[in-house]
Amino acid sequence: MSYNKTASITAETINPKVKIFDYEPCGEIARHAERLEQEMEKSPGSRPFPEITYCNLGNPQALGQRPITFFREVLSLCDNPALLRRDETRMLFSPCAINRARKIIESMPGRNSGAYTNSQGIRSLREAVASGIAARDGFPSRPEDIFLTDGASSAINLSMQILIRSQEDGVLCPLPEYPLYSASIILHGGTMVPYNLSEDGDWGLEIFEVKRCLEEARIAGLTVRAMVIINPGNPTGQVLSITNQEEIVQFCRKEGLVMLADEVYQDNVYVEDRKFHSFKKVARSLGYDENDISIVSFHSVSMGFSGECGRRGGYMEICGFGDDVMGEIRKVASVTLCPNIGGQILTSLAMDPPKLGDGCFENFMAEKEDIRLSLAKRAKTLSSAFSSLEGMTCNKVEGAIYAFPRIHLPAAAIKAAKAEGVSPDMFYACRLLDATGIAVVPGSGFHQVSGRNKATGTCHIRCTILPGEEKIKEMIPRLKEFHESFMNEFRDRS
Ligand SMILES: Cc1ncc(COP(=O)(O)O)c(C=O)c1O
Repeated sequence: MSYNKTASITAETINPKVKIFDYEPCGEIARHAERLEQEMEKSPGSRPFPEITYCNLGNPQALGQRPITFFREVLSLCDNPALLRRDETRMLFSPCAINRARKIIESMPGRNSGAYTNSQGIRSLREAVASGIAARDGFPSRPEDIFLTDGASSAINLSMQILIRSQEDGVLCPLPEYPLYSASIILHGGTMVPYNLSEDGDWGLEIFEVKRCLEEARIAGLTVRAMVIINPGNPTGQVLSITNQEEIVQFCRKEGLVMLADEVYQDNVYVEDRKFHSFKKVARSLGYDENDISIVSFHSVSMGFSGECGRRGGYMEICGFGDDVMGEIRKVASVTLCPNIGGQILTSLAMDPPKLGDGCFENFMAEKEDIRLSLAKRAKTLSSAFSSLEGMTCNKVEGAIYAFPRIHLPAAAIKAAKAEGVSPDMFYACRLLDATGIAVVPGSGFHQVSGRNKATGTCHIRCTILPGEEKIKEMIPRLKEFHESFMNEFRDRS
């Protein structure tokens, strides 16, 4: 029997949208780091560093963050309800965790953590999330508006699916951006409308700049439907001031834009003079209700004190959409049947943790504060280390988990990068990795305005603050030594 021997799909015939976007945090540098790691496994001692330090990804537990005991206890019990009938369980697990697990198991379909659930997530877990949001904001939240999701990423993708009809639909996104946004907008066939954050203004958001971008997009024929705001910011580490947030809310309301508020770093705030305020709270405090403004806020168990990014848990809260639209969103959510149960449970625990008076409250708070204080220390240590280097400036890391320093490269380094056919930041990041084993992400991976950078001879790198305090202490001299020799090498030639 004859058959068609040509490949049914090739790189030429694949969906072209797939080929357009890039995702540098898992891109060239990550692959190069893995190659080096394999090489070092085969020939120990072949490199002048003992191991690769993966500062390219925000992967807390891979870099040593300990899971919260209460979370893991409840998860284990939910997965093994038979343990609740054994005497020794009372010795091994806290009464708090046992009580919570019993409650959750009662609400799981078939009392089993392996069942499909409601596509929006188990009702009682959504109630827990809604009550956590209400306690955080001081404004009501309804379980019907909560969608539990497989991490914030799937919620963001779902939002783009709902919003984007064609290439003529635009979504305002910050630059430098978290590249999930451009990837998702491209994959869903829309157009990203970038606006620049102000590095000289502590990576704040200038309304006149957003307005300029919105107007240009409209003149170009786009219908701009939504605006993404990431607060605290990735890769920039800023925490927006409340006045800035108020301006943004007023702007979105006036322009009829859906606010897509990425708030996954809400528990990662390190400075005394800034606090996390959800955009929903800011809008309600200004007196705007669901009829005035549409807000979708995203949160996740990946970051903050949870650090459970491999569990894929998160939620979106949707406010200000009509019942008919909500019905359509539920339909889209049901296409993937349901979010994973472990992620749903964790999300409910993170938003409704032990309270004062609960037996495990003190231990929970101690673990949570330990993580936050240590991250605050690391944020300070790393940003001052970067700032102390010749030709580098680094804004204060107010929140999130990254430093995003700017490097003024010597002209000869830029020329050498060009000769190798790579961008200056990729050139620097590759040299850094080869010399020290420290993997960072070139700033161009966040679509940082390259035209501007080239003109001034500057570029950026993103380095996570997640490696432990000891590891960071040990990393800094290597970083300094490399940077000095890099600058000397190229300064001499320029
Ligand atoms: C700004 C931002 N939004 C969303 C996400 C995705 O988070 P999740 O792991 O919940 O999908 C990340 C992860 O790094 C992020 O940095």
